Amino acid sequence: MSFDLSVFSNKNIILAVTGGIAAYKSAILVRRLKDYGFNVRVVMTHGAQAFITPLTFQALSGNPVHTELLDPEAEAGMGHIELARWADLVLVAPASCDTIAKFAAGLADDLLSTLYLATKAPVWVAPAMNQQMWAAKPTQRNLNTLVEDGVHVIMPEAGSQACGDVGLGRMPEPQDLAEQVKNYFHQAQRAIAEKFGLLAGKRVVITAGPTREAIDPVRYISNHSTGKMGFAIAAACYSAGAKVTLLAGPVSLDTPNGVRRINVSSAIKMLDESMHQLEEGCDVFIATAAVADYRVAEVAEHKIKKAGDELNVSLVKNPDIVATIAQQSKRPFMVGFAAETRNVEEYAAGKLVAKKLDMIACNDVSRADIGFASDQNAMTVFFAEQYQMEKRDLEKASKQEIAQQLVEAIHDALHHEIEPV
Ligand code: C5P
Repeated sequence: MSFDLSVFSNKNIILAVTGGIAAYKSAILVRRLKDYGFNVRVVMTHGAQAFITPLTFQALSGNPVHTELLDPEAEAGMGHIELARWADLVLVAPASCDTIAKFAAGLADDLLSTLYLATKAPVWVAPAMNQQMWAAKPTQRNLNTLVEDGVHVIMPEAGSQACGDVGLGRMPEPQDLAEQVKNYFHQAQRAIAEKFGLLAGKRVVITAGPTREAIDPVRYISNHSTGKMGFAIAAACYSAGAKVTLLAGPVSLDTPNGVRRINVSSAIKMLDESMHQLEEGCDVFIATAAVADYRVAEVAEHKIKKAGDELNVSLVKNPDIVATIAQQSKRPFMVGFAAETRNVEEYAAGKLVAKKLDMIACNDVSRADIGFASDQNAMTVFFAEQYQMEKRDLEKASKQEIAQQLVEAIHDALHHEIEPV
C-alpha cells in the first residue's frame, strides 16, 4: 500500500548514488521515498553515471541532479554547502568501496565526499559490492572508521551477485531502505513528542468561529457559531508543544495563551489567510470554522434603503476552505469537523472522502446538551481509509477535554504506522 503521508513533506533526503550495478535499484528507491512524501535530491558520482543517467533521477525526483563540485551553474542553483544544509538525511545507496574509503579518509575531491564533510545531517551508507571486495580488510577497516565517526551502515544482503559470485554485498531492496528511512523519522518524531509534547515542533493552523458575509456596509449574513471548540483546540495544541495560528472569525473570546490569532471576517478572507499560512509552513490544518456556505453576489456599496415588501438578495457559493487546502500539492495533515442534525456518522464519513481529509470529528448538534453554544461536547472521530485506524467515540466532556483527545487522535494518526491502533 502506498501512503502519501504529508507528515514527511518537510523532510529532505539526499540520495547519493555511487558507481555500482545496484545503482539501478536507486531509481526505484527515489520513487519509494517520494511515495512517503519525502523531498528527494539526488547526488551522483562520476562512477554512478556510467551505470545510470542523471536524467532518470531528475525525472523521478522532480529536482535537478547534482554531479559536480565546481560547476558554476550548479553552484549558482544549490551549491554543495547549501545542499549539505538542506539535507535532513544523506543516504548513500549504493555506496561503493571507493566512496567508503574517501569518507573514511576525509578526502574532499568531488561533490559527494565534500558534502559528507559539510553536512550536519545523519549519514547512512548502504554498501553494495562484490562479496570479495566487501570482505577485503581495507573495506572492513574503512567501515569500522565510518561507524566510529557516527555513520549508520546498512548491512548488505547475501545472495547471488551480478558478477556471478554468491555472498554478502547485495544492496537491500528499495522498499526495505525506504521503510528504514521512514521508521527513522517516525522514531525521531516519537522521541521528540515524548520529551516535548504530542505535537512538539508542529505548525498548526486552525480556523474557528463563524464567517460574516456582508450584504451592505451595515448588514451581514452569519451563524451562531461561538468558536469555543476551535479556541479550545488551539489551546490544547499549544499545550502539546505546537506553534499555533488561529484564524478567527468574529467571536468574543480571549485569545488562548501562546497562540497567534489572526482575525478574519468573510469566507474569502479566511481562505486567503489559510493559503498564506500554508505558504509559511503548516503541518496540521484544523478546520473548525462554521464557514457560511453562501455570500452575497454583489455587496451594496451603500446601505440598502427600505423599499417595498420584499427584498431579493442573490447569493453565490463560498469556496470550501478545508477542501481547497486539502487539494494543494504540499498539503498538511487535514482535520475537518461535521456538525449534523441527523445521519451524523454517514454524512461525516462522506465528507471525509469528498473533502480529502485525513481525519474528521463529527457531532450531533440536534442534541441540546452539546454543540454550538454549549461548554460540553461529544464527538466521533473517523480517519481516512489509508490510516487503517478504528473510529473513536469521545464521550461527553468539556470542550477542553475533547480538544485534548483530538490532539491525541491527531498525534496517533501522524504516527499510526509505528503504533497502530
Ligand atoms: O460541508 P460542511 O460545511 O458540513 O463541512 C464542515 C467542515 O468543512 C468543517 O471542518 C468546516 O470548517 C469546513 N468548511 C470549510 N469551508 C467551507 C465550508 C466548510 O472549510 N466553505
